[in-house]
Amino acid sequence: MSEPILELRGINKSFGPVHVLHDIDLVVNPGEVTALVGDNGAGKSTLVKCIAGIHPTDSGEVLFNGQPVQIRGPRDAADLGIEVVYQDLALADNLDIVQNMFLGRERTKAGLLDETDMEQAARKTLASLSVRTVKSVRTQVSSLSGGQRQTVAIAKAVLWNSKVVLLDEPTAALGVAQTRQVLDLVRRLAEQGLGVVLISHNMNDVFEVADRIACLYLGRMAAVVSSKEVTHGQVVELITAGRSGDLGIARPEAATI
Ligand SMILES: Nc1ncnc2c1ncn2[C@@H]1O[C@H](COP(=O)(O)OP(=O)(O)OP(=O)(O)O)[C@@H](O)[C@H]1O
Ligand SMILES: [Mg+2]
Repeated sequence: MSEPILELRGINKSFGPVHVLHDIDLVVNPGEVTALVGDNGAGKSTLVKCIAGIHPTDSGEVLFNGQPVQIRGPRDAADLGIEVVYQDLALADNLDIVQNMFLGRERTKAGLLDETDMEQAARKTLASLSVRTVKSVRTQVSSLSGGQRQTVAIAKAVLWNSKVVLLDEPTAALGVAQTRQVLDLVRRLAEQGLGVVLISHNMNDVFEVADRIACLYLGRMAAVVSSKEVTHGQVVELITAGRSGDLGIARPEAATI
């Protein structure tokens, strides 16, 4: 098996007096989809924001390609090839697809925006992901469906030679057919060799696309399991109780009896 692309060791994060993440260990392998699951408030988005450099961590280590790295801001994450797709705030409605994909990182030639180059790169990226539902890359994002928007947001994330893509509930607001498109795309990202982390509350989606499932319970990593070796029921138990049979966090009272 190849070396992890990203590894978290003992990550802690508090917001003021609230200790949100406790000693989180997580490995992200290239070519794999790792689902990150947990109840509302378990700390999933916070963990993703720590990896993306949006929140500083209080302690712990991050390794990228086996090397310790410091991610002090979104720029550092982007430089490493870590991109995040957020459920909201993903795209600017009043801009077209090309403008969105290059927002803040526009390509220029002789001091002018290189529209042809950006348009070609946008088309190429969408084609490499086998995206066929978007008719023109000059379509304004406000006229796209939810699924198409999410597709553009994901394509935007992979445009930058990304190595790791983190998706925070990309299918939460989507219908059946659009969810299908996005899940296919998530699988394709992994097939292209990226390390993919997918946050989802939907067990069917998780079992369909994930190779491994990381279960957060009240800010602790209850278990990281292979999706082939567990049932939906076990994962639901890990999410709601932090343990399921032999898996998960040992009951504190068990140690004292
Ligand atoms: N910026 C912040 N300031 C203070 N507390 C925060 C902040 N962001 C998150 N929290 C707290 O951290 C905990 C974890 O929140 P987080 O958003 O990571 O959960 P989540 O697992 O993504 O939940 P959901 O499934 O509802 O999206 C919550 O108790 C939340 O109130
Ligand atoms: Mg969240």
